[in-house]
Amino acid sequence: MELHNVRLEKEGAVAVVVIDRPKALNALNYDTLKELLYCFKTLAQEKEIGAIILTGGGEKAFVAGADISYMQELNGLEGAEFGALGHAVMAAIEDAPQPVIAAVNGFALGGGCELSLACDIRVASETAKFGQPEVNLGVIPGFGGTQRLPRIVGKGIACELLYTGDMIDAAEALRIGLVNKVVATDELLDTCRVMASKITAKGPIAIRLCKETVNNGMQMDITRANRYEATQFGQCFASEDQKEGMKAFLEKRKPSFQGK
Ligand code: CAA
Repeated sequence: MELHNVRLEKEGAVAVVVIDRPKALNALNYDTLKELLYCFKTLAQEKEIGAIILTGGGEKAFVAGADISYMQELNGLEGAEFGALGHAVMAAIEDAPQPVIAAVNGFALGGGCELSLACDIRVASETAKFGQPEVNLGVIPGFGGTQRLPRIVGKGIACELLYTGDMIDAAEALRIGLVNKVVATDELLDTCRVMASKITAKGPIAIRLCKETVNNGMQMDITRANRYEATQFGQCFASEDQKEGMKAFLEKRKPSFQGK
Protein backbone atom coordinates (compact mmCIF):
# COMPACT_ATOMS: atom_id res chain seq x y z
CA MET A 1 0.00 0.00 0.00
CA GLU A 2 1.28 3.48 -0.82
CA LEU A 3 1.49 5.70 2.25
CA HIS A 4 0.58 9.37 1.86
CA ASN A 5 -0.52 10.39 5.36
CA VAL A 6 1.62 8.10 7.50
CA ARG A 7 5.36 7.48 7.54
CA LEU A 8 6.79 4.17 8.67
CA GLU A 9 10.43 4.29 9.72
CA LYS A 10 12.57 1.50 11.09
CA GLU A 11 15.46 1.99 13.49
CA GLY A 12 16.86 -1.51 14.10
CA ALA A 13 14.33 -3.41 16.18
CA VAL A 14 12.17 -0.32 16.73
CA ALA A 15 9.56 0.94 14.25
CA VAL A 16 8.40 4.54 14.34
CA VAL A 17 4.96 5.27 12.89
CA VAL A 18 4.43 8.97 12.19
CA ILE A 19 0.97 10.34 11.37
CA ASP A 20 1.94 13.06 8.96
CA ARG A 21 -0.78 15.52 7.95
CA PRO A 22 0.47 18.51 9.93
CA LYS A 23 -1.66 20.98 7.95
CA ALA A 24 -4.77 19.33 9.41
CA LEU A 25 -3.02 18.74 12.74
CA ASN A 26 -2.77 15.06 11.76
CA ALA A 27 -6.55 14.60 11.91
CA LEU A 28 -7.68 11.07 11.12
CA ASN A 29 -9.60 10.86 7.86
CA TYR A 30 -10.58 7.63 6.11
CA ASP A 31 -7.28 7.29 4.19
CA THR A 32 -5.12 7.97 7.25
CA LEU A 33 -6.98 5.31 9.25
CA LYS A 34 -6.57 2.81 6.39
CA GLU A 35 -2.85 3.55 6.24
CA LEU A 36 -2.48 3.17 10.00
CA LEU A 37 -4.34 -0.13 9.85
CA TYR A 38 -2.02 -1.34 7.10
CA CYS A 39 1.10 -0.28 9.07
CA PHE A 40 0.09 -2.02 12.29
CA LYS A 41 -1.10 -5.20 10.52
CA THR A 42 2.18 -5.30 8.59
CA LEU A 43 4.35 -4.64 11.64
CA ALA A 44 2.52 -7.39 13.53
CA GLN A 45 4.04 -9.90 11.08
CA GLU A 46 7.58 -8.54 11.39
CA LYS A 47 9.46 -10.66 13.90
CA GLU A 48 12.54 -8.42 13.85
CA ILE A 49 10.50 -5.47 15.18
CA GLY A 50 10.27 -5.59 18.96
CA ALA A 51 8.62 -2.27 19.82
CA ILE A 52 6.71 0.49 18.03
CA ILE A 53 6.64 4.23 18.69
CA LEU A 54 3.59 6.15 17.44
CA THR A 55 3.81 9.92 17.07
CA GLY A 56 2.54 12.92 15.11
CA GLY A 57 4.35 14.87 12.40
CA GLY A 58 4.94 18.61 12.77
CA GLU A 59 5.32 20.75 15.86
CA LYS A 60 1.76 21.14 17.10
CA ALA A 61 -0.14 17.90 17.22
CA PHE A 62 -0.05 14.23 17.98
CA VAL A 63 -3.52 13.95 16.41
CA ALA A 64 -6.23 16.63 16.79
CA GLY A 65 -9.02 14.09 16.38
CA ALA A 66 -11.00 12.35 13.72
CA ASP A 67 -11.25 14.56 10.64
CA ILE A 68 -14.21 16.88 11.10
CA SER A 69 -14.32 17.89 7.40
CA TYR A 70 -14.52 14.23 6.47
CA MET A 71 -17.21 13.44 9.08
CA GLN A 72 -19.43 16.48 8.60
CA GLU A 73 -21.71 15.01 5.90
CA LEU A 74 -21.77 11.38 7.05
CA ASN A 75 -25.14 9.76 7.70
CA GLY A 76 -25.80 7.29 10.53
CA LEU A 77 -24.67 4.23 8.64
CA GLU A 78 -21.56 5.93 7.30
CA GLY A 79 -20.79 7.26 10.79
CA ALA A 80 -21.01 3.73 12.20
CA GLU A 81 -18.75 2.43 9.43
CA PHE A 82 -16.22 5.16 10.10
CA GLY A 83 -16.35 4.30 13.81
CA ALA A 84 -15.78 0.64 12.98
CA LEU A 85 -12.71 1.54 10.91
CA GLY A 86 -11.34 3.59 13.82
CA HIS A 87 -11.97 0.68 16.17
CA ALA A 88 -10.18 -1.68 13.77
CA VAL A 89 -7.10 0.57 13.98
CA MET A 90 -7.24 0.65 17.79
CA ALA A 91 -7.61 -3.15 17.85
CA ALA A 92 -4.65 -3.57 15.49
CA ILE A 93 -2.54 -1.53 17.93
CA GLU A 94 -3.74 -3.54 20.93
CA ASP A 95 -3.36 -6.85 19.12
CA ALA A 96 0.10 -6.12 17.72
CA PRO A 97 2.55 -8.49 19.42
CA GLN A 98 4.94 -5.59 20.04
CA PRO A 99 4.38 -2.97 22.77
CA VAL A 100 3.31 0.36 21.30
CA ILE A 101 4.49 3.61 22.92
CA ALA A 102 2.57 6.79 22.11
CA ALA A 103 4.96 9.75 21.92
CA VAL A 104 2.38 12.50 22.41
CA ASN A 105 3.97 15.64 20.97
CA GLY A 106 1.07 18.10 21.06
CA PHE A 107 -2.72 18.04 20.77
CA ALA A 108 -4.18 14.58 21.45
CA LEU A 109 -7.88 15.33 21.13
CA GLY A 110 -10.90 13.15 20.38
CA GLY A 111 -9.74 10.34 18.08
CA GLY A 112 -6.15 11.42 18.85
CA CYS A 113 -6.60 10.92 22.58
CA GLU A 114 -8.32 7.61 21.77
CA LEU A 115 -5.39 6.58 19.60
CA SER A 116 -3.02 7.19 22.50
CA LEU A 117 -5.32 5.20 24.81
CA ALA A 118 -5.03 2.14 22.57
CA CYS A 119 -1.24 2.23 23.02
CA ASP A 120 0.41 0.37 25.88
CA ILE A 121 2.35 3.35 27.21
CA ARG A 122 1.92 7.12 26.79
CA VAL A 123 4.83 9.54 27.08
CA ALA A 124 3.95 13.22 26.67
CA SER A 125 5.93 16.32 25.82
CA GLU A 126 5.42 19.35 28.08
CA THR A 127 3.32 20.90 25.32
CA ALA A 128 0.91 17.98 24.98
CA LYS A 129 -2.80 18.60 25.50
CA PHE A 130 -5.41 15.92 25.95
CA GLY A 131 -9.18 15.93 25.73
CA GLN A 132 -12.33 14.29 24.44
CA PRO A 133 -14.10 17.34 22.97
CA GLU A 134 -16.62 15.34 20.90
CA VAL A 135 -19.63 16.67 22.85
CA ASN A 136 -18.73 20.15 21.54
CA LEU A 137 -19.49 18.76 18.07
CA GLY A 138 -22.69 16.98 19.02
CA VAL A 139 -21.21 13.49 19.01
CA ILE A 140 -19.68 11.05 21.46
CA PRO A 141 -16.18 9.57 21.18
CA GLY A 142 -16.25 6.93 18.48
CA PHE A 143 -12.85 5.25 18.59
CA GLY A 144 -13.02 3.75 22.09
CA GLY A 145 -12.84 6.83 24.34
CA THR A 146 -15.92 5.98 26.38
CA GLN A 147 -14.46 2.55 27.11
CA ARG A 148 -10.69 2.86 27.37
CA LEU A 149 -10.56 6.23 29.19
CA PRO A 150 -12.52 5.02 32.27
CA ARG A 151 -10.40 1.87 32.36
CA ILE A 152 -7.21 3.96 32.44
CA VAL A 153 -8.08 6.98 34.63
CA GLY A 154 -11.17 5.68 36.47
CA LYS A 155 -14.84 6.38 35.79
CA GLY A 156 -15.26 9.67 37.67
CA ILE A 157 -12.37 11.50 36.02
CA ALA A 158 -13.24 9.98 32.64
CA CYS A 159 -16.85 11.16 32.90
CA GLU A 160 -15.71 14.68 33.75
CA LEU A 161 -13.48 14.78 30.66
CA LEU A 162 -16.13 13.16 28.45
CA TYR A 163 -19.04 15.38 29.60
CA THR A 164 -17.23 18.73 29.77
CA GLY A 165 -15.02 18.27 26.71
CA ASP A 166 -12.30 20.07 28.72
CA MET A 167 -8.76 20.06 27.47
CA ILE A 168 -6.06 19.24 30.03
CA ASP A 169 -2.33 19.89 29.91
CA ALA A 170 0.47 17.34 30.26
CA ALA A 171 0.93 17.97 34.00
CA GLU A 172 -2.75 17.24 34.67
CA ALA A 173 -2.60 14.19 32.38
CA LEU A 174 0.29 12.92 34.51
CA ARG A 175 -1.59 13.64 37.74
CA ILE A 176 -4.62 11.59 36.67
CA GLY A 177 -2.52 8.70 35.34
CA LEU A 178 -3.34 9.28 31.70
CA VAL A 179 0.36 9.44 30.81
CA ASN A 180 3.35 7.60 32.20
CA LYS A 181 5.73 10.55 32.10
CA VAL A 182 6.16 14.07 30.81
CA VAL A 183 9.43 15.19 29.23
CA ALA A 184 10.82 18.23 27.42
CA THR A 185 9.65 18.41 23.82
CA ASP A 186 13.11 17.92 22.35
CA GLU A 187 13.65 14.84 24.53
CA LEU A 188 10.35 13.13 23.70
CA LEU A 189 11.43 10.82 20.90
CA ASP A 190 14.74 9.91 22.50
CA THR A 191 12.98 9.08 25.77
CA CYS A 192 10.65 6.78 23.85
CA ARG A 193 13.56 5.27 21.92
CA VAL A 194 15.40 4.46 25.17
CA MET A 195 12.25 2.84 26.56
CA ALA A 196 11.70 0.92 23.32
CA SER A 197 15.31 -0.31 23.27
CA LYS A 198 14.99 -1.49 26.85
CA ILE A 199 11.96 -3.52 25.78
CA THR A 200 13.58 -4.96 22.65
CA ALA A 201 16.52 -6.21 24.74
CA LYS A 202 14.18 -8.56 26.65
CA GLY A 203 12.88 -11.92 25.50
CA PRO A 204 10.43 -11.22 22.65
CA ILE A 205 8.22 -14.16 23.59
CA ALA A 206 7.95 -12.94 27.19
CA ILE A 207 7.12 -9.40 25.99
CA ARG A 208 4.46 -10.68 23.57
CA LEU A 209 2.89 -12.94 26.20
CA CYS A 210 3.04 -10.12 28.77
CA LYS A 211 1.11 -7.74 26.48
CA GLU A 212 -1.40 -10.42 25.51
CA THR A 213 -1.94 -11.41 29.15
CA VAL A 214 -2.48 -7.84 30.37
CA ASN A 215 -4.89 -7.00 27.54
CA ASN A 216 -6.91 -10.22 27.60
CA GLY A 217 -6.80 -10.57 31.39
CA MET A 218 -8.25 -7.07 31.87
CA GLN A 219 -11.42 -8.24 30.09
CA MET A 220 -11.92 -11.11 32.59
CA ASP A 221 -12.92 -11.39 36.22
CA ILE A 222 -9.91 -11.66 38.53
CA THR A 223 -10.24 -15.41 39.20
CA ARG A 224 -10.33 -16.32 35.50
CA ALA A 225 -7.65 -13.75 34.75
CA ASN A 226 -5.26 -15.26 37.29
CA ARG A 227 -5.93 -18.75 35.91
CA TYR A 228 -5.25 -17.36 32.43
CA GLU A 229 -1.99 -15.83 33.64
CA ALA A 230 -0.89 -19.19 35.04
CA THR A 231 -1.48 -20.79 31.62
CA GLN A 232 0.39 -18.01 29.83
CA PHE A 233 3.23 -18.31 32.39
CA GLY A 234 3.38 -22.01 31.57
CA GLN A 235 3.71 -21.22 27.87
CA CYS A 236 6.95 -19.36 28.53
CA PHE A 237 8.54 -22.62 29.66
CA ALA A 238 8.09 -24.08 26.18
CA SER A 239 10.50 -21.43 24.84
CA GLU A 240 14.27 -21.51 24.39
CA ASP A 241 14.29 -17.91 25.68
CA GLN A 242 13.15 -19.09 29.12
CA LYS A 243 15.95 -21.68 29.27
CA GLU A 244 18.49 -19.10 28.09
CA GLY A 245 17.21 -16.34 30.43
CA MET A 246 17.42 -18.51 33.54
CA LYS A 247 20.71 -20.17 32.50
CA ALA A 248 22.28 -16.75 31.88
CA PHE A 249 21.16 -15.55 35.31
CA LEU A 250 22.71 -18.55 37.02
CA GLU A 251 25.90 -18.18 34.96
CA LYS A 252 26.01 -14.46 35.88
CA ARG A 253 25.98 -13.25 32.27
CA LYS A 254 23.62 -11.33 30.01
CA PRO A 255 21.05 -13.49 28.21
CA SER A 256 21.07 -13.79 24.44
CA PHE A 257 17.39 -14.12 23.53
CA GLN A 258 16.49 -15.54 20.11
CA GLY A 259 12.71 -15.16 20.26
CA LYS A 260 12.25 -18.94 20.09
N1 CAA B 1 -10.41 17.63 11.80
C1 CAA B 1 -10.13 18.31 10.67
N2 CAA B 1 -9.33 19.37 10.62
C2 CAA B 1 -8.77 19.78 11.78
C3 CAA B 1 -9.01 19.13 12.99
C4 CAA B 1 -9.87 18.01 12.97
N3 CAA B 1 -10.12 17.28 14.07
N4 CAA B 1 -8.34 19.77 13.95
C5 CAA B 1 -7.68 20.77 13.37
N5 CAA B 1 -7.95 20.80 12.05
C6 CAA B 1 -7.47 21.74 11.04
C7 CAA B 1 -8.16 23.08 11.16
O1 CAA B 1 -9.43 23.06 10.52
C8 CAA B 1 -7.15 24.01 10.49
O2 CAA B 1 -7.29 23.86 9.10
P1 CAA B 1 -7.21 25.18 8.15
O3 CAA B 1 -5.81 25.69 8.37
O4 CAA B 1 -7.42 24.62 6.78
O5 CAA B 1 -8.26 26.11 8.63
C9 CAA B 1 -5.82 23.39 10.88
O6 CAA B 1 -6.09 22.03 11.28
C10 CAA B 1 -5.17 24.08 12.06
O7 CAA B 1 -6.11 24.12 13.11
P2 CAA B 1 -6.51 25.49 13.88
O8 CAA B 1 -6.35 26.65 13.00
O9 CAA B 1 -7.84 25.28 14.51
O10 CAA B 1 -5.35 25.51 14.99
P3 CAA B 1 -5.43 26.17 16.44
O11 CAA B 1 -4.04 26.12 16.97
O12 CAA B 1 -6.14 27.46 16.41
O13 CAA B 1 -6.33 25.15 17.30
C11 CAA B 1 -7.08 22.98 18.08
C12 CAA B 1 -5.90 23.83 17.53
C13 CAA B 1 -7.46 23.46 19.46
C14 CAA B 1 -6.57 21.55 18.15
C15 CAA B 1 -8.25 23.11 17.11
O14 CAA B 1 -7.82 22.86 15.77
C16 CAA B 1 -9.38 22.15 17.40
O15 CAA B 1 -10.14 22.38 18.31
N6 CAA B 1 -9.48 21.06 16.61
C17 CAA B 1 -10.57 20.14 16.71
C18 CAA B 1 -10.40 19.23 17.90
C19 CAA B 1 -11.57 18.28 18.01
O16 CAA B 1 -12.70 18.68 18.19
N7 CAA B 1 -11.29 16.98 17.92
C20 CAA B 1 -12.29 15.94 18.02
C21 CAA B 1 -12.79 15.57 16.66
S1 CAA B 1 -14.19 14.49 16.73
C22 CAA B 1 -13.57 12.96 16.99
O17 CAA B 1 -12.37 12.77 17.14
C23 CAA B 1 -14.57 11.87 16.99
C24 CAA B 1 -14.06 10.54 17.45
O18 CAA B 1 -13.93 10.29 18.61
C25 CAA B 1 -13.83 9.51 16.47
